[in-house]
Amino acid sequence: MTAENTASHLTLIETGSQAHPEELTSSIQIDGFSAYYGKNCIISGLTLDIAHKGVTCLLGPSGTGKSTLLRWLNRINEETENASFTGRIKTLGLDIMEDYPDVTELRRQIGMVFQQPCVFPCSVYDNMLMGLRHLKLSKAEARETIKGSLKRAALWDEVAHRLEAPAISLSLGQQQRLCIARALVLKPKVLLLDEPTASIDPISSRAIEDLVVALGETISIVMVTHNIAQTKRVADHVVFMCDGKIVEQGSRNHMFSLRTCDKTRTYITEEFCDC
Ligand SMILES: Nc1ncnc2c1ncn2[C@@H]1O[C@H](COP(=O)(O)OP(=O)(O)O)[C@@H](O)[C@H]1O
Ligand SMILES: [Mg+2]
Repeated sequence: MTAENTASHLTLIETGSQAHPEELTSSIQIDGFSAYYGKNCIISGLTLDIAHKGVTCLLGPSGTGKSTLLRWLNRINEETENASFTGRIKTLGLDIMEDYPDVTELRRQIGMVFQQPCVFPCSVYDNMLMGLRHLKLSKAEARETIKGSLKRAALWDEVAHRLEAPAISLSLGQQQRLCIARALVLKPKVLLLDEPTASIDPISSRAIEDLVVALGETISIVMVTHNIAQTKRVADHVVFMCDGKIVEQGSRNHMFSLRTCDKTRTYITEEFCDC
């Protein structure tokens, strides 16, 4: 980690194994993390702190392990055959394995949205209700929470009059914002976005970018993207990965300046990786 990053990610103050949320400066701390599929090592010895607010973009060529990393942060990869990891990941000061015997609790803190909008074959409203199924809310509370999350996902104005319409009848961009809204009902502290705009049109992509920037003001967003221009528009912090390792990371200003290493500059300016 560079001096610049160390300074911006001050030491986590812990009491026992837990930290008080107000003392956290990192939402996620990854330490000596290696990921495997069978015996195949995909990520090796990765160490990274992610700030408790703002947008961190993970950039890098296909096959580098970006999705694998994201999928371990909320333990979705646990459900993948042959997938394993060594090292340690802490979120909000707690070890994602040892301190979360109930993975649902972890996923309440760390929401995830995938490249393809993943809506259920039911109404817009029922899709939102699915997100709330683990909470015991009254109908009125559920309605308020759903409205609040749809507003936060900048979708309310477009769907308020069609909450009973099938979610599949929304445009792809709206469906992706519905997925984000559904993740937001649980009030996560971290939102993982794996190429959230890769399958939608440029105008809808911009709506999602605006949403990501707005959400980054209150929570921690970790977004995988292949889009360099998008990274420039939304990132507070950029991590450039290649072959399962971090090549370079830093603030957006640093990563888009001439001060980066040659490999980063080649990737960012020519979208070509010579690592
Ligand atoms: N379920 C799996 N089983 C075996 N290998 C996998 C699996 N998922 C991904 N991989 C391999 O792991 C590597 C990293 O994949 P991935 O994390 O999806 O990369 P990225 O998101 O950077 O494109 C690739 O070589 C990919 O083929
Ligand atoms: Mg991927």
